[in-house]
Amino acid sequence: MAGMCNYDGKVVIVTGARSGIGAATAKKFALLGAKVVCAGRRPCTDTVEAIKAAGGEAIAINCDVANEEDVKNLIAKTVEAYGKLDVLVNNAGSLPPTRDLVDQTVEDFDHTMDVDVKGVFLGMKYGIPAILEAGGGAVVNICSVAGLVADPGMAPYVAAKHAVVGLTRAAGIEYAGKGVRVNGIAPGFVASEMTQGWMDDPEMKALVSSYNWQNRIADPSEIASVAAFLASDEASFMGAAIVAVDAGQTAH
Ligand SMILES: NC(=O)c1ccc[n+]([C@@H]2O[C@H](COP(=O)([O-])OP(=O)(O)OC[C@H]3O[C@@H](n4cnc5c(N)ncnc54)[C@H](O)[C@@H]3O)[C@@H](O)[C@H]2O)c1
Repeated sequence: MAGMCNYDGKVVIVTGARSGIGAATAKKFALLGAKVVCAGRRPCTDTVEAIKAAGGEAIAINCDVANEEDVKNLIAKTVEAYGKLDVLVNNAGSLPPTRDLVDQTVEDFDHTMDVDVKGVFLGMKYGIPAILEAGGGAVVNICSVAGLVADPGMAPYVAAKHAVVGLTRAAGIEYAGKGVRVNGIAPGFVASEMTQGWMDDPEMKALVSSYNWQNRIADPSEIASVAAFLASDEASFMGAAIVAVDAGQTAH
């Protein structure tokens, strides 16, 4: 496929690819020519079928990103199936219940840290060596506006996403000179399973829409296209950057 962001011959892993931003991102990379490994705690069968129906190439691998053995297995199986790894999108994430900090449970705090922070750490720990082995490539970490500013009612998530921003910057500077560009995306509110509860409540939907300057909720495809750009040669001088895709929410 000619043009910008050509992924012909490239191998891309997207975690949390069953739904939302992950599913849209997997489909976007496949459309641009990549062989896509759709990883998720639950099977990503629907995403793989949609990619194949559109003429693309994809497989599903079950992986709990918080489980070290699962992540090692994900990278090994990807290399076994497609011969290499060029791009890793650490997208899988978990949002704790919305409540004040003192009412958050230790279990929800630990789970959020395990999935949102340790999951990204493990993805890079085992994914970057494979990308180096392939001669270089890119990592895109899906952070959040909650990694740049705080929102009430989600302290564990705010802490976790700030940590992902830190991990992205740390890895970004460590591997920039070695041929792996690591960047992050900080999405504003996006329609997905994670935010379905808010979308179903008209008052909440209007409130979260009002946080940005287009007064709406983003579609997952609007994050996917930025991920595809960031991981491509078109973004060759970008490293350790956190790109807000939030219609100006965090600019004000
Ligand atoms: N929706 C938003 O408004 C929004 C805003 C900013 C950032 N994000 C981030 O975007 C990413 C994708 O979220 P989404 O909005 O598409 O929600 P989503 O719930 O549709 O997608 C999350 C996916 O991650 C998977 N997952 C959860 N725990 C996992 C684990 N331990 N191992 C593997 N997979 C796991 C889920 O099964 C699901 O498919 C998350 O990191 C989220 O924090 C979302």
